[in-house]
Amino acid sequence: MTNQNLSRINISPVKRLRGDFHLPGDKSISHRSAMFASLGQGTSFIRNYSSARDCQNTLDCMEALGVKITREPNLITIEGVGLRGLQAPTKILDVGNSGTTIRLLSGILAGQSFTTEITGDESIQRRPMRRVIDPLRLLGANIEATNESFAPLKIAGGNLQAIEYTPPVASAQVKSCVLLAGLFADGETAVVETTPTRNHTEIMLQECGVPVKLQPTEAGMRISLQGWSEMAALGDYTVAGDLSSAAFFIAAALIAPDAELRIRHIGVNPSRNALINVLRQLGGQISIEDERLAHGEPVADFVVRSSQLRGNLELNGAVVANLIDEIPILAVVATQIHGSLTIREAKELRVKESDRIRSIVDNLQRMGIEVEEYDDGLRIAGPQKLQGATVESYGDHRIAMAFAVAGLVAEGETEIKDAEAAAVSLPEFYDLLKNCGD
Ligand code: S3P
Repeated sequence: MTNQNLSRINISPVKRLRGDFHLPGDKSISHRSAMFASLGQGTSFIRNYSSARDCQNTLDCMEALGVKITREPNLITIEGVGLRGLQAPTKILDVGNSGTTIRLLSGILAGQSFTTEITGDESIQRRPMRRVIDPLRLLGANIEATNESFAPLKIAGGNLQAIEYTPPVASAQVKSCVLLAGLFADGETAVVETTPTRNHTEIMLQECGVPVKLQPTEAGMRISLQGWSEMAALGDYTVAGDLSSAAFFIAAALIAPDAELRIRHIGVNPSRNALINVLRQLGGQISIEDERLAHGEPVADFVVRSSQLRGNLELNGAVVANLIDEIPILAVVATQIHGSLTIREAKELRVKESDRIRSIVDNLQRMGIEVEEYDDGLRIAGPQKLQGATVESYGDHRIAMAFAVAGLVAEGETEIKDAEAAAVSLPEFYDLLKNCGD
């Protein structure tokens, strides 16, 4: 692998892959740890906080809201200010590329008695915000947005009244936004989830001593909390390694020749682990060892070996929501299956950091792969030979990383343009991959 400059990377095929390593903390959990530690009473010491640029942006935003944060290598210390302690920022909050930051923080900002402006990069300004604006208005916040739907958002909050809300899209970000706003609302705020999504918010609120009620109903799971509950700091908290980052290495080990990777202390929350089940169903040799619970989150070590993948799968509904971030790398794996993979009901992919259905299809075609594109998904029949080519990241971290893995098993060189997009979630990605390859 050669790093010509910051924005282009060349990947050559590998003969073998070996490695034994930890990964930085889970992005979703890191964002939440920064926000919840800020809102809790007392000091929190967070270890293995994600190195992702997105998660650094969350820390910057919390600092701009008056929270004292000290960053040392592998230790973030956050002096919680309590639910009533945030201060009006003196500048527009900038989330960069981070959808999780803007959507979750909007919930917190809706609860403040000051006005905040929040925005992000070009991609963020194209992503749908109506999904959080609508419930926050119902709670009583005043929100201005470009064309009623897009960042920058101007949020004038305070005096919220609890609501019961059923999000029209399966989204952990929307669920979390509403629950966070509910912390500042009078009464009991509830979200009814018809398709389950990642539940890190529920788990971490409990860790902070906020009772979260879960009630199965006919419509789905009703998740509720009482506004103005006492909220403690997180205290000593170690973030589990990021399964969505591990996914790229797991996939690489499955499809590369002569591979064996051990990846330690990775989050295996069932609301996130559908990818692992799917890969095992296809015959992937993935052992999950020493499963344990850390701060309410299940973690484990993975050992992954080169595998013959076989089967015909169609994924849709709840499974797609569970592995939504892993679809780019799953599509790359699908080119190597003796069988086929069809993904439907994944329209959400079109409004991620890039239009991921388009990005995947375009790059696969550049690498000589036949792939069928649907409005809500794609279909790949394998095995097919990946041909080295020049591919685009589309400024999307997961597209850059997925196609770097494709390059490891392609014929000839693969060049990734705008490869540094990977830093949005895993700045160490190319170095880690290089250290594993031969
Ligand atoms: C996230 C939720 C998911 C996921 C994103 C992180 C979170 O988005 O795609 O990368 O931390 O809550 P949606 O909830 O919008 O599907």
